[in-house]
Amino acid sequence: MRHSAYVFDAYGTLFDVHAAVRRHAGEIGPDGQLLSEIWRAKQLEYSWVRTLMGSFADFWQLTEQALDFAFRKVPSADPRLRQALLDAYWQLDCYPEVPTVLKTLKADGARLAILSNGSTAMLEAAVKSAALDQVLDEVFSVDAVGRFKSHPSVYEMVTTAWRLYPEAVSFQSSNRWDVAGAARFGFHTVWINRGNQPDEYGDHPPDLILPSLEGLPTAF
Ligand code: LAC
Repeated sequence: MRHSAYVFDAYGTLFDVHAAVRRHAGEIGPDGQLLSEIWRAKQLEYSWVRTLMGSFADFWQLTEQALDFAFRKVPSADPRLRQALLDAYWQLDCYPEVPTVLKTLKADGARLAILSNGSTAMLEAAVKSAALDQVLDEVFSVDAVGRFKSHPSVYEMVTTAWRLYPEAVSFQSSNRWDVAGAARFGFHTVWINRGNQPDEYGDHPPDLILPSLEGLPTAF
């Protein structure tokens, strides 16, 4: 282990954002995956546009607005499921390898945190529901800076709070745009390419690519 601090993106990296729709797949019908993809894409778009505009809003609000848009785009999905999907978002499944990987890193003496666009309340609920509260030292929410990733001020929360140089931090995200922002900031970056996606943002490459978090404790 070469890093004293490991920082993780939350949604898509530790927590499966598509678990909410999957949990209600039977009721949603054949376009569930499409609904989930539009929901996620719009949630992210709203966060970037709001950061560019200088008009911050709680990530939970953006999550609700994105789902409302997704329902309008996918008429086969019954909007009466809105509340059930939103409720499920507060108790997303974590990926199966997550608890063991975090415990292993922690046992090796590393400091562990989440750094996420999620609101403090959303993150608290997700962490509790996945029983990760015992193993994490800190949960950094963008609420504290009023901007979303990949604005440098978000990554800076970690180095300021922990008094570390960026290169002392290993940052893991399944979101390639987030890896680009973190690499630009100076973090050591690991792209968790869960979906076997093609690479992008070539001028801000990750230091390492893994298919899941599983190999992280022994990767470098
Ligand atoms: C997060 C989203 C962007 O947790 O995945 O920050």
